[in-house]
Amino acid sequence: MIIQRKTQFQKNLSELPAEFQEAASQFGNYIAFQQRYDAAIKEVSTKLEILDDEFRVRYRHNPIHHLECRLKSVPSLLEKLKRKGLPLTLEAAMKNLTDIAGIRVICCYVDDIYRIADLLLRQTDVELLRRTDYIAEPKSNGYRSLHLVVQIPIFLSERTEFVPVEIQIRTEAMDFWASLEHQLRYKTDQSVSPELCDMLKNCAEDINDVELRMQKIHQTLNELE
Ligand code: GTP
Ligand code: MG
Repeated sequence: MIIQRKTQFQKNLSELPAEFQEAASQFGNYIAFQQRYDAAIKEVSTKLEILDDEFRVRYRHNPIHHLECRLKSVPSLLEKLKRKGLPLTLEAAMKNLTDIAGIRVICCYVDDIYRIADLLLRQTDVELLRRTDYIAEPKSNGYRSLHLVVQIPIFLSERTEFVPVEIQIRTEAMDFWASLEHQLRYKTDQSVSPELCDMLKNCAEDINDVELRMQKIHQTLNELE
């Protein structure tokens, strides 16, 4: 399984946009802050990797296609605090933002998504803070994924900290769709026609249909083995 890590520590806060310079100067021990969230990403991605390995050995099937891990960058962290009207401080970020550490789990089939989520949540050190099932109830634009916010303990030299991690679990096809939708959403220079949005929503429905049919074929093949 491939793990893509987009976790880059931002050491030099002086490179931030001017509007955030003052906030950055009050960010204090930012490296220690990032290290905690990076540790949480490592813990959860290792758990997922172990589950995937076990499945390969037991069932000759890899439920996870790949993982993408990212630590929220300082500019997007500050932007989010600003958008939410919160103070631009590390304390406010730690208290209010649950997506500083993020993991995207790309699965092969829809069934794999729920299997992986259940197995992860059954682990005694994983506490579920929030679960949003956009597969059972897709967003109005057609977006589908299972979102979990979990909290896990990080064992540091002098104390144990509980750190939240946002996990988005989706199939390859849902991910393919979400990338295109993301592109469409960030085309702020021109307005996007409603027809194009409808077309994309129809794609989400078609993808759902194709995925379920392919999963059925996959299951049938497994039963034949
Ligand atoms: P934020 O305040 O933006 O974090 O939203 P939220 O806390 O209400 O969480 P939500 O679960 O709706 O979305 C969290 C993340 O899921 C986003 O940052 C995206 O990465 C992804 N996401 C949610 N909705 C969509 C969508 O409609 N399209 C795409 N492409 N991604 C989405
Ligand atoms: Mg979020």
